[in-house]
Amino acid sequence: MTRFASSVSALRSSEIRDLMKLAASPDIISFSGGMPGNELFPLDMMDKIYDSLTDKDKQIAMQYGPTSGLPMLLESLSDYLEKKGLPVKKNRLMVTTGSLQAINILAKAFIDPGDNVLVESPSFIGALSAFRSYEANIISVPLNSDGIDIEQLKVMLESTQPKPKFLYFLPNFHNPAGIVYSQEVKQQMIDLLRDKDIPLIEDDVYSDLYFYKGDVAKMKNIKTIDPEGIDVCFTGSFSKILGPGLRLGWMLVPEHIYQKCELIKQSIDACSPSLSQVIADKFLRNGYIQEYTENVRLEYKKRGLAMIDALEKHLPEYVSFEKPRGGFYIWLHLPKGTDSTLILKKAIEKGVVFVTGKTFDPNGVKNDCMRVSFCNTDVDVINKGIPIVAEAIREVCG
Ligand SMILES: Cc1ncc(COP(=O)(O)O)c(C=O)c1O
Repeated sequence: MTRFASSVSALRSSEIRDLMKLAASPDIISFSGGMPGNELFPLDMMDKIYDSLTDKDKQIAMQYGPTSGLPMLLESLSDYLEKKGLPVKKNRLMVTTGSLQAINILAKAFIDPGDNVLVESPSFIGALSAFRSYEANIISVPLNSDGIDIEQLKVMLESTQPKPKFLYFLPNFHNPAGIVYSQEVKQQMIDLLRDKDIPLIEDDVYSDLYFYKGDVAKMKNIKTIDPEGIDVCFTGSFSKILGPGLRLGWMLVPEHIYQKCELIKQSIDACSPSLSQVIADKFLRNGYIQEYTENVRLEYKKRGLAMIDALEKHLPEYVSFEKPRGGFYIWLHLPKGTDSTLILKKAIEKGVVFVTGKTFDPNGVKNDCMRVSFCNTDVDVINKGIPIVAEAIREVCG
């Protein structure tokens, strides 16, 4: 009998990952993944970037780099983040191997086995898995349409002993809930957490993918305020605004937290891929990012609005959802007690996949909700697939 460590015995394969195998079949319509459409990648820009690389760039691309990131990328990324109002100079920036690594490193920095950590319910499965792998005791706080439930957060902060090691949250175009935090909820979070010695992990990978430019001002990160008395650890990624295959993300954190994180990253992978960093630097430095994000925003908006229309037209009236204003996801609320796994089974038989609610429940139980993503299917496929999802829901719920 192989004797695995206790920290990994509890790990389960996520339903998303298992479903990805199914979604790979060419005939299945997949509303399950959170990846950009292949046809949306900036291939022309990539060609131009490759063609512009000097021998020196190529040597840097093939070599190990500093753990914190290649200096050229740290410079261009700092510039990009500063323009978004993030306090780069007051903090330390580290390039990571995807933002999931940033979350993982922060988890390792803070969690001892059995420690309490606070998350939203529902929450991003990748982060939940990372926290589980360090044997955290995950405590969830419900999410409303304008952010975390402040009254419940207050109760949890008062009643959780020993006090939580951090609060992890997703401010913009939440995965899976699709919502955006209101300014008011963010301010109440700041008021509740000030001087409590409970860091905030602010995971923001979708904020560039808004449908309406007018929303940008409301989506200001807590990190842009960097309130006194709270250590805010901000994480972001190139995955949704360039390509997840590069495996590049970042963390922007206070100096004392950075010091620990750099040591942790050194022991994990020494540095993130230099080739990816050289490419990402040119993407930022040459201004391709503005043109590209403008284009994909339009396409995701088209897909998102088409999915909203199709859902409104085909879903039974007992299913409700918050209309997304950006990002990749729509979160459907089914009648109380519905088992969305039964709906998924029916939908798969009919040729469509999505993700069940319990995948995102920190306790792995609440299943009367489900996530459909619009990022990876064009409008025609959305119009073909959503009536099938609605039919599967009707077959199970009546
Ligand atoms: C909310 C959220 N955070 C982090 C990530 C991880 O992204 P990556 O590791 O590709 O940067 C994802 C990926 O789907 C996500 O949805």
